Amino acid sequence: MSFIQLENITKHFKGGEKPAVNSLQLNIEKGEIITLLGPSGCGKTTTLRMIAGFENPSEGSLHIDGKEVYSDSRTLPPEKRGIGMVFQDYALFPHMSILKNVMFGLNKWSIKAKKQRAAEVLELVGLEEYAHRYPTELSGGQQQRIALARALAPRPNVVLMDEPFSNLDASLREKMRFDVTNILRKTNTTAIIVTHDQKDAFAVSNRVVVMNDGLIQQIATPKEMYRCPKNCFVAQFVGKTNLLTGTMDTDLKNIHTHIGKVSLPTEWQEHLDTVKVSVRPEGCRLSEEGAHCGQVERVTYGGEFQELYVRLPGKQGLTGEPMLINAPVEKDVEVGTMVSFDITPELVALVE
Ligand SMILES: Nc1ncnc2c1ncn2[C@@H]1O[C@H](COP(=O)(O)OP(=O)(O)O)[C@@H](O)[C@H]1O
Ligand SMILES: [Mg+2]
Repeated sequence: MSFIQLENITKHFKGGEKPAVNSLQLNIEKGEIITLLGPSGCGKTTTLRMIAGFENPSEGSLHIDGKEVYSDSRTLPPEKRGIGMVFQDYALFPHMSILKNVMFGLNKWSIKAKKQRAAEVLELVGLEEYAHRYPTELSGGQQQRIALARALAPRPNVVLMDEPFSNLDASLREKMRFDVTNILRKTNTTAIIVTHDQKDAFAVSNRVVVMNDGLIQQIATPKEMYRCPKNCFVAQFVGKTNLLTGTMDTDLKNIHTHIGKVSLPTEWQEHLDTVKVSVRPEGCRLSEEGAHCGQVERVTYGGEFQELYVRLPGKQGLTGEPMLINAPVEKDVEVGTMVSFDITPELVALVE
């Protein structure tokens, strides 16, 4: 049995046309960091709130650490589930010192044990000298580490974090992704993190769960998700891509599209007629003798690379969107010139 099991979890809100969360099936192992990733309104927060016990599912069952916490016949209250919550705005108590904030969740412990545990978790997040300060005297990143320390203090089964990085500016955000995962891993804490940001999800997770419209689209490691997205939605949500329609060769590996032949990294398991492939822009490499050739329609300078929109001549009346290609910045490319490129099969995926 997995450490956390969501079995067929569905949530209908009153007046809602479609379920906010639809037949969710998810197993999480001890020590895993999982992110729920998807656009606004896809059901991430609702899922997290059902795990925490703030909201009851309409159907399904939920187990944490071998214990049934929700089913048709049983509802365990939030405080009995062993959950540590970190809220988006951190929800620290402004009138309490950092030490008191961290001790807050340990109400049944002796004073001595509370102080000892608070000191331990403050050291864990690297803020032991701040014990006697107040939340307003700390930076955003420090407040977040305190919120995490408070959540970890009672040694929860699982830490739940809703959009933990969304209030931080870009450079702090990167540091906090690293700090938070470091602390979670050091303590072998199981965590479920909600985010709408693909970069957050990829940077912190063992596995990512992409959701849309209340439905799980795909569960995979960040690398698998990026390289082998299951469908068009996932392909586009986790990065930029070119979606091409084509026909599969009898060799099950080559796809004939309007830009020519595109190869899959490995043979497909069965023959399909018309298929869609996702081709990542960084899988298209400029090359003098490249197999594909087209005219540059637009250049967007991105700093680390430049994005080229290349129009390829349509074959047999087929036309399509221009191909998006990432080109190295040291290369001067003018609008209107012809470029040729090759496609790396490893960044091509067949999608539904
Ligand atoms: N308390 C509620 N009552 C009615 N509808 C709700 C409630 N909470 C969320 N919803 C609806 O459920 C859907 C999923 O919401 P939510 O889980 O907050 O999405 P996310 O966190 O992915 O942005 C949305 O359509 C939202 O409007
Ligand atoms: Mg939300």
